[in-house]
Amino acid sequence: MDTATAATVLSEIQAILASRLEREAQLMAVCHTLAERVPTYDWVGFYLVDPDHARELVLGPFVGAPTEHTHIKFGQGICGQAAEREQTFVIQDVSAETNYLSCSAHVKSEIVIPVFRDGVVVGELDIDSHTQAPFSATDRRVLEQIAALVAPLL
Ligand code: SME
Repeated sequence: MDTATAATVLSEIQAILASRLEREAQLMAVCHTLAERVPTYDWVGFYLVDPDHARELVLGPFVGAPTEHTHIKFGQGICGQAAEREQTFVIQDVSAETNYLSCSAHVKSEIVIPVFRDGVVVGELDIDSHTQAPFSATDRRVLEQIAALVAPLL
């Protein structure tokens, strides 16, 4: 995304988080903002660490095509690896990945940003794109900022 879009997205998300919307609605609105403002973001969603099954992610609010991957164990796929390694994964070409869970044949790239609370992974922001290599350093920086902003909600 360009810097103007980054500024718009960040200010819209700050307004969502300051609103009276309930938690789920805020997370859904964050997904909508990203999907609407950034044309290359085709699926935007949150995975939450399951409080009953530590080291497993459960699908939360999302915008885009439904996915069969509603539960992902740490270590599985890009999402599970990002949770296990506690770091952002930027995959510019998913066809080059061996540990990858495909949601749709249209998806060409993916970025997964862990969300931390008190130094512990509590969830993730996951974005799929139908475009190859759409994620710039600006995308990563802004999405990591958003992950920090939403952390109290997860
Ligand atoms: N591709 C992900 C699975 C989740 S979907 O992108 C929504 C992965 O490899 O973990």
